[in-house]
Amino acid sequence: MRTFFETHIEKKRLPIPVALHREIRKTALRLPELDVTGRAWSKKNYPKGYTSYGSLSELHRHFTVFERLGNALDREVRAYASGLGFESKKERLALTSLWVNLMPEGCYHAFHHHPHSVVSGTYYVDVPRGSSPLRIEDPRAPLFMASPMRRIQEDLVPRAGEVILFESWLKHEVPPNRMKGLRISVSFNYELDRSSSR
Ligand code: NI
Repeated sequence: MRTFFETHIEKKRLPIPVALHREIRKTALRLPELDVTGRAWSKKNYPKGYTSYGSLSELHRHFTVFERLGNALDREVRAYASGLGFESKKERLALTSLWVNLMPEGCYHAFHHHPHSVVSGTYYVDVPRGSSPLRIEDPRAPLFMASPMRRIQEDLVPRAGEVILFESWLKHEVPPNRMKGLRISVSFNYELDRSSSR
């Protein structure tokens, strides 16, 4: 038997200095007080939590600490993309958005994907024991029709300091956080940078 059309997920420790990790946490925790628009956006779209997705979605352009995170992510995404056979000299992937998510108890993010991007992922800053996993769904799920029941979702349990990368069409969610501790993460998108081919 041979296998085709696999779905590749990268999950690994991101090699960055501890001091940078701490600085990311500190900055992430300060964002809500600076970001009035984001607080209002989160109230509507991100129950109980805070995300800078609707307001400050290019944090790597505004904060050195997130720019440094972006540089570390670039290396991982490049390796991941070349493993998928993507990157050529003409077209490179570029970090286009990067935002912070603070998820207290009860906060969740329903199934979605990232239509305009190629590679998406999340860097995990704090993951209290027992807090939400990242749940992914088999992309073939809508097509199984009369096929016998099978498992169509998997949970990835991230650890602080890890990065998870996946192709942006992969549906994913963060089910409700059942733990008291704050789950802190930084999510991002990479798109094809067509300007690099000129
Ligand atoms: Ni997402």
